[in-house]
Amino acid sequence: MTALHIALLGYGTVGKGVYKTIQTHQEKLKRIFRKEVKVVAILVKNIEKHHTLDSDVLLTDDFNKIITLEQLDVVIDAIVGQEPSFTYLQQAMNRGCHVITANKEMFAYHGTQLKQIAKEKGVTLGFEATVAGGIPIIQTLRQLLNVNNIQKVQGILNGTSNFILTKMREDGCPFETALKLAQEKGYAEADPTNDIEGYDAFYKAVILSELAFGENPNWEESIRQGIQSITPEQIELFSALGYRFKHVASMEKTEKGIVCSVKPVLVNETHPFYQIEGVQNAVSIDGDIVGNISLQGPGAGMLPTASAIIEDLVYINKHSFSPIFLDEQNGLSVKVSKIYWAMAGDAAVENIPSHIQIIDRPNPNVLIVEASWEEICDIQWPNTYFYQVLGKVLTENTLVSS
Ligand code: HSE
Repeated sequence: MTALHIALLGYGTVGKGVYKTIQTHQEKLKRIFRKEVKVVAILVKNIEKHHTLDSDVLLTDDFNKIITLEQLDVVIDAIVGQEPSFTYLQQAMNRGCHVITANKEMFAYHGTQLKQIAKEKGVTLGFEATVAGGIPIIQTLRQLLNVNNIQKVQGILNGTSNFILTKMREDGCPFETALKLAQEKGYAEADPTNDIEGYDAFYKAVILSELAFGENPNWEESIRQGIQSITPEQIELFSALGYRFKHVASMEKTEKGIVCSVKPVLVNETHPFYQIEGVQNAVSIDGDIVGNISLQGPGAGMLPTASAIIEDLVYINKHSFSPIFLDEQNGLSVKVSKIYWAMAGDAAVENIPSHIQIIDRPNPNVLIVEASWEEICDIQWPNTYFYQVLGKVLTENTLVSS
C-alpha cells in the first residue's frame, strides 16, 4: 500500500497533537486518502528529548535531511516565529509539497507571498490552524467570500487571554496565577508575551483581514493593547455592574481602509461574547447578504489545533485550495459605528469635556460616555482609565446600541 508521506516541523504541543491524531484517526484517514497517512519525519530542536517516537520516523534537527527525502508529499509547520518557518515552507513548496501551517506570526507577515508561491507551484496551502484554534473560520470565510461582501469581523482570538480574564474573575486570582495555569494547560505560547500583549491576536486579525477584505489593515495605525494592565479590582468593579472584560480584535472596512484594533473591552449579557469563557474563542462576521454569523469553539490547546490541521490535510485530497486574491470589493465602505466607553478612576466623574456625551452613570465612580477613539485618547488624566463597551449599553431607562 502506498502512503501519504508527511513531515512535521516541530514537536511541541501542536506537533504532538497532530502526530497523535494521525495515529488515532488512521483508519478514517485511510478511507479518505485510500492509502496510509504516515508521518515519516519530524524536525525538532533537541533530538535527545524525543527518543520515544517510532523507530521508522526520521527524527532530526536538520531540515535538509527532510527536504531531500525521496518521498515527501506534505510538510506541516508547527513551529513558532517567522524564521526558519518561512524559508522552510518556501523550500517545501518549491519542491512540490503541499504545506499546512499553524504559525500565525509567520503567516501574518508572509502569507501573501506563500499564497503566490502555492499558486505558481500548484500546491495547496492550508492555514486554518493559524486562527482561532479548532473553529473552522478560514473555511467559513472562504465560502462566504464567493458573493458576500464582508463588512465587519470581530473576534476573541486568543485563548490564553480569555482564559486569564475568566480565571481572574471567577476565582479572584492574580494575573500571574491565571497565566501560569494557562501555560500548564498548553494554551500559552512558549513566550506568553505575544498572548498577553495582544500580538498573537493581532497576527490572527491580519490573517482574517486579508481573507475577509482582501487587504491588510495598516499595521502602523492599528491599535494593539494587551490585558496585562487589567487588575482584579477593575474586574470586580465592572463585574458588579454586569460587565465582563473580553480581549477583542475588530476589523472594519472604512473609507480610510481596514481599521483594526485589538484591545480589552467590556461586554454585558446582551453581547454574544459575554458567554465566551475560558480558552474559548469566538468570531462574529457581518456579511451583506448573510447578515451576522457567529462561530465559537476551543481557541487553543493540543487537539483543537490538531483538528484544524487535519481538516486542512483532507483538502489535499478534495481539491486544491484556491489561493485568495480578492478583487476590490465594490468600493464598499462602512460607516464606523458609535463608540461607547466605561470610564472609571479618580477624575472620571469630573470635568468631562462638553463634546463628550455622558450616557449613564451606573455608580458614583463609573461613567458611560460616547466618544471617538481620538477624543477618548485626549483624556490623559492621572488615575483615570477607560474601556470600550461593545454591544448594547444598559441604562436606567433604555438600551443604547453601538
Ligand atoms: N497561544 C495561542 C492562544 C494558541 O492562546 O490563543 C493558539 O493560537
